Amino acid sequence: MKVLTVVGARPQFVKAAAVSRELRRDHEEVLVHTGQHYDEEMSDVFFDELGIPEPDDNLGVGSDSHGAQTAEMIAGLEELMEAERPDSVLVYGDTNSTLAAAVAASKTDADLAHVEAGLRSFNREMPEEVNRVLTDHAADLLFAPSRRAVENLREESVPGEIHNTGDVMYDAVLWARDRAAEHSSVLEEFGVEPGEYVLATVHRAGNTDDPERLAAILDALAADPREVVLPAHPRTVECMKDYGLYEDAKERLTLTDPAGYLDFVRLQDRADVVATDSGGVQKEAFFLDTPVVTMREETEWRETVEAGWNTLTGADGEAIRRALATADPPDAKPRPYGDGNAAAEITRLLDDE
Ligand code: UD1
Ligand code: UDP
Repeated sequence: MKVLTVVGARPQFVKAAAVSRELRRDHEEVLVHTGQHYDEEMSDVFFDELGIPEPDDNLGVGSDSHGAQTAEMIAGLEELMEAERPDSVLVYGDTNSTLAAAVAASKTDADLAHVEAGLRSFNREMPEEVNRVLTDHAADLLFAPSRRAVENLREESVPGEIHNTGDVMYDAVLWARDRAAEHSSVLEEFGVEPGEYVLATVHRAGNTDDPERLAAILDALAADPREVVLPAHPRTVECMKDYGLYEDAKERLTLTDPAGYLDFVRLQDRADVVATDSGGVQKEAFFLDTPVVTMREETEWRETVEAGWNTLTGADGEAIRRALATADPPDAKPRPYGDGNAAAEITRLLDDE
């Protein structure tokens, strides 16, 4: 079996690494990087740390408007798919790289397989929601991480085959947790004590592109009495500078470059609480037994909220402050996203086709 995998953005390197390890035991994989993320700390560091080979091709598309970026990816991927003639094209999540690969693959003979199928925020203002829905409707094989994701796909009557495989990010965290504890010295580098700091990330367009929301979030984080470590996405740094928020944030927060994966897992593992608007970080913190405050109005990962481990605050400064101060998850934690063997199950299902 020959699988062509398409990745392009940070969370996709993490997810694809988990599947790649399984897939490459017995099958051929061609790994294509669209170039959507290109900074060393947004891309190369993941290939160095996650034990996956360098991409076979990098389209080098870089940043652009949604339409121009997606169109350039589609054109490049179509050419590669024609040359490689894979049995399956494997895509992850909900970025523009995901959608571009879905469009290109759906016009070839290859099966299109979507990992993280069926996630819904039901907020069509998010570019990711549109990417997810369109990809799911084009896919032949839908690998859903939870029962709810399966239900969402059934409700929409998608034409492809649906499987509940569990979540590949759980596989990724199980692989990384002990390695991070052994190899990362990030806590010492930042001078933070386990259980005594807040780890934060912000990059969702709905937060960064609105000066009032971004200011309210940064203010609420800075008001926390604990040290707040914020490894900032380049998009967020640009916006902070544009809105004149950067200097103040640098003074009041531990503002750093994006962290490598093992350092970031370590930071999540030992934080008192995580504050984020990331999809992946909500789940990873949950898997690592760290409570989460999600600075969005809704989440695709509702099971974490229902379990009492995740609190939705939007960009309401008072709600963020309160949630950070009172985060106190229950002792019991359900396992709504499988048992950490999603990659093996996905490989088996691809091979069955
Ligand atoms: C993208 C995804 C988002 C995902 C996130 C993961 C889409 C529509 N969005 O958002 O779903 O959660 O990746 O991190 O696909 N930039 C750099 N260096 C880089 C990459 C980006 O400086 O290596 C800056 C550029 O100014 C760019 C901006 O960040 O314009 C946004 O990058 P882009 O890839 O378009 O979207 P993300 O916000 O990263
Ligand atoms: N991540 C990282 N360093 C950071 C921030 C995030 O390695 O400084 C990892 C994190 O562990 C997770 C993934 O990036 O695996 C999440 O990506 P992101 O938040 O950019 O995107 P989303 O999941 O929201 O699409």
